[in-house]
Amino acid sequence: MVIAFLVLLLQFFGYVNGGDDEIHNLKGCDIYHGTWIYDDSYPLYNSSECFHLNMHFDCQQNGRPDKEYLKYRWKPYACNLPRFNGKDFLERLRNKRIAFVGDSISFNQWQSLTCILHSHHRHVAFIGGIRHHGFSKFTFPNHNVTILLLWNPFLVENESTSYGRVLNLSSIADSDATLWQQSDVLVFNSWLWWLQSGTATPWDFIADGNDLHKDMDRLVAYEKALTTWAQWVESNIDFHKTLVFFRGDAARHPNGSAWGNYDGKHCGEETEPIFKAKIPLMKIRGEEIVERVISKMSKAVKLMNITMLSQLRKDGHPGLYASPRHHGMDCSHWCLPGVPDTWNQLFYAELLRSL
Ligand SMILES: *[C@@H]1O[C@H](CO)[C@@H](O)[C@H](O)[C@H]1NC(C)=O
Ligand SMILES: *[C@@H]1O[C@H](CO)[C@@H](O)[C@H](O)[C@H]1NC(C)=O
Ligand SMILES: *[C@@H]1O[C@H](CO)[C@@H](O)[C@H](O)[C@H]1NC(C)=O
Ligand SMILES: *[C@@H]1O[C@H](CO)[C@@H](O)[C@H](O)[C@H]1NC(C)=O
Ligand SMILES: *[C@@H]1O[C@H](CO)[C@@H](O)[C@H](O)[C@H]1NC(C)=O
Ligand SMILES: *[C@@H]1O[C@H](CO)[C@@H](O)[C@H](O)[C@H]1NC(C)=O
Repeated sequence: MVIAFLVLLLQFFGYVNGGDDEIHNLKGCDIYHGTWIYDDSYPLYNSSECFHLNMHFDCQQNGRPDKEYLKYRWKPYACNLPRFNGKDFLERLRNKRIAFVGDSISFNQWQSLTCILHSHHRHVAFIGGIRHHGFSKFTFPNHNVTILLLWNPFLVENESTSYGRVLNLSSIADSDATLWQQSDVLVFNSWLWWLQSGTATPWDFIADGNDLHKDMDRLVAYEKALTTWAQWVESNIDFHKTLVFFRGDAARHPNGSAWGNYDGKHCGEETEPIFKAKIPLMKIRGEEIVERVISKMSKAVKLMNITMLSQLRKDGHPGLYASPRHHGMDCSHWCLPGVPDTWNQLFYAELLRSL
């Protein structure tokens, strides 16, 4: 009784760590179902103070004239997202290793997370910045927290052989897999590279078991690869030690007809989110596959269901304001600060309810 009263008193004065009420509220809340609202206290950091931010994502520096896109906050209908607390994040993850595994959209999210954390805590060590292979590593030595990016756009093996480049849908790349096993938190994704076509196709053959194909239905290939990944994760990851997330596919906005702008406009002229869709938003083709594969897994792999909330952000891409070296319209990656900061706030919320 006395203790309960003390706890109440402490809560009243806001002393109970990390806002236990806040965490309690998050527990049953669908944090991915909500709306974007304008909030003048955003963005979470200043891009020119994030020393390792890749130029490609720094839209303001690249001359983007509008600023409203920096100011939106995600509001779940059923609860409030906690504001990102970098100090608490580093404390919770002390002595842990987080790895993002995927393509340049994973790089986008990794850059966002490390920029947010760096704005809270300046003592860091950074290796890498390699965008198209290998890994990047960001360390907070005082907390012994490491945040890795492991470049791996397919999750399955991509092998150079005497007869050409083979993407093997039945096999996981061993070299990366060891690093996956050594991580405490894993955030996987794979999607955009499955859509490459023509001369950009990054393989000569697709192997399905021992069968070699010149090409195949990409959605079928994607589902087979994710299934191989799922089987590997279930039999090789120790779920007592490691939290596993799959970040849902991010949206692209190359064609305005998807949001009722029928004169063929792309993301480039968009300066605000979709608040009320003029037409029903189409499900992204990969999304159902991700949901299906993950729902069949017996172990607790959590889906970060960011697809729909990203679909609403037709204003979030660099468009013409990717790096000066980039020619043309980028409606696939995301400006930073920007939408990936919200993915990381959701990631933080997921960690609060899991750790
Ligand atoms: C961002 O940081 C730069 C360099 O420290 C500073 O000049 C600029 O005023 C800051 N911008 C904002 C919006 O705070
Ligand atoms: C730092 O963290 C790693 C795991 O990421 C762990 O293996 C190591 O023992 C930690 N170092 C110290 C000094 O605690
Ligand atoms: C496939 O692997 C080769 C060599 O291992 C590498 O150079 C290439 O970038 C990889 N392709 C993709 C799409 O990751
Ligand atoms: C693809 O990987 C599977 C599983 O490791 C293997 O049995 C098969 O031989 C590989 N296919 C090719 C064409 O290398
Ligand atoms: C945009 O999509 C519409 C409807 O699918 C299609 O008719 C049009 O050709 C597309 N425009 C571009 C520029 O790809
Ligand atoms: C992901 O979110 C969308 C939109 O809110 C919803 O339709 C879908 O059912 C969600 N998927 C899962 C697995 O929760």
